[in-house]
Amino acid sequence: GEGVVRRDRFSGGPARSFLSSLAADERIFEADLEVDRAHTVMLAEQGIIEDDVAGQILTALDAIEVDGHGSLPDGEDVHEAIETAVIERIGEEGGKMHTARSRNDEVAACIRYRLREDVLEAIETTLALRESLVDVAEAHAETIMPGYTHLQPAQPTTVAHWALSYEGAVRRDTKRLLEAYGRINESPLGGAAFAGTTFDIDRERTAELLGFEGVPASSARGSSAEQRSAVVVENSMDASSSRDFLLETTQALSTHATTLSGLAEDLIIFANRGFVEISDDYSSTSSIMPQKKNPDTLELVRAVAGDAAGAVQGLTTTLKGLPRAYNIDLQRATTHAWETVDAVTDASEVAAGAVATADWNEEILAAEAGEGFSTATGVADLLAANGLPFRTAHELVAIAAENGADYDAIDAAAREVLGEPLESVVDPGAVEDALDPVESVASRDSQGGPAPDAVASQLEAARDALETD
Ligand code: ARG
Repeated sequence: GEGVVRRDRFSGGPARSFLSSLAADERIFEADLEVDRAHTVMLAEQGIIEDDVAGQILTALDAIEVDGHGSLPDGEDVHEAIETAVIERIGEEGGKMHTARSRNDEVAACIRYRLREDVLEAIETTLALRESLVDVAEAHAETIMPGYTHLQPAQPTTVAHWALSYEGAVRRDTKRLLEAYGRINESPLGGAAFAGTTFDIDRERTAELLGFEGVPASSARGSSAEQRSAVVVENSMDASSSRDFLLETTQALSTHATTLSGLAEDLIIFANRGFVEISDDYSSTSSIMPQKKNPDTLELVRAVAGDAAGAVQGLTTTLKGLPRAYNIDLQRATTHAWETVDAVTDASEVAAGAVATADWNEEILAAEAGEGFSTATGVADLLAANGLPFRTAHELVAIAAENGADYDAIDAAAREVLGEPLESVVDPGAVEDALDPVESVASRDSQGGPAPDAVASQLEAARDALETD
């Protein structure tokens, strides 16, 4: 038949393996079978192919699924190989499966179908990480620790406040991935090569059969009572040639990886200072230095951000300037997304586990919370609250910082800057409180601040968001 002629004509040549995506297509083997089934059912329902032929095709697809991707005949890609396998099983009639479609709309449907599942898994890991962070925050609402800017001791804070700072960022990462999911979840099937088809196909029907329903249920809560309906990428040229869904998904994953890298870096530094002990499950030792315990998993989490950023760059560069409609450059674009979703999902899962099992050393944290005169800002705030211009208070405390950073130093600075003793400006007891890291944290109860009360409402919001996302 014609199919055989076509395959023979293009079956050889030194570029054969360069051209083929069959091995990489293992990732979309199951997806392709689902897409084939949906398309076959629709063709029969529309009277485009005979019911008995459709039945034979569906039976062949089931058998091909059992045999697995590894048993497929050779082919340029999984779409061609599955079609060949169907024809091998049921004869020429199997060739009717490819009526009214092209591999171009087919592959776009397969990628979306599979990526949808992978992105949901990635989203799950962000939820698990948020849960770990919220649990740490709940357990350590009063565990004070040093806070840093420029990695220099800055102001005392709490472990809970630190943990929730990452929870907030990961919460946005979840949202970005959910939004990307909504746009992945649209059906390009029926776009054909790019130019539509003469056959009376039903694109809504294949979209429905494949569950392409746009935004996920949790984000469409307002309309949850309504029947969810199929979403089709309308324009057939757009449907078979656009890959912006790959780009935005990879970008959202890259953003999450960047969040993870900061979290990992903090934990690596905190472990180095004895603030936290990373569980043995998330550490490695040295093959030569017997005493070593290294935060290897967190270093790898940190590095995944590099892979993901590289993938965004590779994908963007591949897509840039591609003309309409389909070009096979797109075959190499897809792999960037697979690699990224795998690496970032793993990293997110490992980060969640490392956070959940880390042991915070409250004594060391308390002892270090005031390091580097980190209560200085609180003292300046106190002086300003007692009538001094903040800039004058800042200057006064800066002088004290050079000369011992205690009550006496502040008093000496007051006499120098103001010409009067400290106690004439402010109650000495209040100064002692401001110098105490615990009191310092407790007094910073502005919205979103580290005081346990302020953290309690952040914690509640974080738990609520976990419920709804
Ligand atoms: N394997 C191709 C891809 O990944 C799909 C097939 C389209 N090939 C073609 N020559 N039009 O995009």
